[in-house]
Amino acid sequence: KQAKAIVLAAGQGKRMGSVVPKQFLELDGKPLLFYSLECFEQSELISEIILVAGKDAIPFCWKIVDHFGFQKVKYVVPGGKERYDSVYEGLKVCGDCDIVFIHDGARPFPDAGMLERTFEAADTYGACVAAVPSKDTMKQGTPDGLVERTLDRSTLWNVQTPQVFRYDLIMEAHQKIRKGSIEGVTDDSMIVETLGICPVKLVMGSYDNIKVTTPEDLVIAENILKRREKATLK
Ligand code: CTP
Ligand code: MG
Repeated sequence: KQAKAIVLAAGQGKRMGSVVPKQFLELDGKPLLFYSLECFEQSELISEIILVAGKDAIPFCWKIVDHFGFQKVKYVVPGGKERYDSVYEGLKVCGDCDIVFIHDGARPFPDAGMLERTFEAADTYGACVAAVPSKDTMKQGTPDGLVERTLDRSTLWNVQTPQVFRYDLIMEAHQKIRKGSIEGVTDDSMIVETLGICPVKLVMGSYDNIKVTTPEDLVIAENILKRREKATLK
């Protein structure tokens, strides 16, 4: 089966507040985006990578691709206003394929095992998301900030990317949802869930697979990287 990966790097990183968009900030001398691209490049499951970037950053992205010799990045395409717009731009250039991985370029630490697990689940169920069991107790609040109720932690997962789908199903979902009103869509699984297209399987991601969102996440990412580099030297 043929799988392609869409790596998203068209966000503005407002919560990070850095001058350079967060996906291009340096982590041990390499742009943050490098790390996820490397993981997909090295995976035998992936035949092609579609990188989605801000219009102005496209030349810089090609520089990264050339500099690090990423052979599988065949397209760098401009993203859209919202994340799901960027995903749709990626899906359009994917063309026909069996399975598509959708991954946040702001998550530097996916790993080979995770790609295998999500690939298998997408093939079986049609849709899946990498996720980890929630470590924190989660409470639902009222609009004025009072606790409404405590959720049952044993059923809660923190959802990550990759989110992996049969291509025809996710394309159908995006096309359907674009005809109506789209509100509050934060990930791709939600689109599939909302339309009831197929079950979405939760697949074990990893606690290292963080999304770099605010400045303190950079410190965590640096530490994860150090630990990983030590582990590969051993
Ligand atoms: N993304 C994208 N196109 C958008 C918005 C987001 O490709 N219009 C990508 C980001 O580059 C990131 C991923 O989606 O890799 C997850 O989004 P998020 O963490 O929210 O990143 P930003 O939108 O850049 O950050 P912020 O919400 O703080 O502005
Ligand atoms: Mg965002």
